Amino acid sequence: MSGERKYRLGVLGSGKGSNFVAIADACAAGSVPAEVAVVISDVAEAGILDRARERGLAAQFIAPGKFRTKLDETAEAAYIRALQEAEVDLVVLAGFMRILKGEFLRAFAQRVVNIHPALLPSFPGLEAWKQALDYGVKVTGVTVHFVDQGVDTGPILAQQTVPVLAGDTAGTLHARIQEAERVLYPAVVAALARGEVGVQGRQTVWGMKG
Ligand code: GRF
Repeated sequence: MSGERKYRLGVLGSGKGSNFVAIADACAAGSVPAEVAVVISDVAEAGILDRARERGLAAQFIAPGKFRTKLDETAEAAYIRALQEAEVDLVVLAGFMRILKGEFLRAFAQRVVNIHPALLPSFPGLEAWKQALDYGVKVTGVTVHFVDQGVDTGPILAQQTVPVLAGDTAGTLHARIQEAERVLYPAVVAALARGEVGVQGRQTVWGMKG
């Protein structure tokens, strides 16, 4: 093994961090050829920061500023700076509850990915598993996509179906969806780290070799 530079991930999350854990542990096990360079949260007491620190990874709370659903200008600049200082190749949104636009997406053009707990373009936005349950669909799922200026509208990298079963509650369906997330997200991050997938307009193209 040479001292070759590893592909570096910057993970943003607001919650408990189960997707982050799946990705970080896959990096540590070698099944994702990348390393977590930094984890940042807009919530000081978020579980994701504890999960990062337990693993000896850099973890920072950066205050989001005055808005409820996005970062204010000062916060956006601080997030960009922290990710650039950590020299990240890919920004991985793992339950980050704020919309990223403008400057942030320009700084990391086509280098921001998100996981959404439904089969987009169905059920964008919040509590997508609950939207699916309320609508009455029999199949829902998980989508990993690039982030663009819209909400859950960027080019789709991969999707996995998840059945809705009789008697499901929001809780049981969400748990089943999260199980699928913990498999799909590391697999997609691994492919990106290997340069196996690119984007052309709205299409993502698999099977490339970087
Ligand atoms: C996941 O269900 C993901 O789909 C959504 O936010 C949730 C984050 O969960 N974007 P966790 O913090 O990774 O456990």
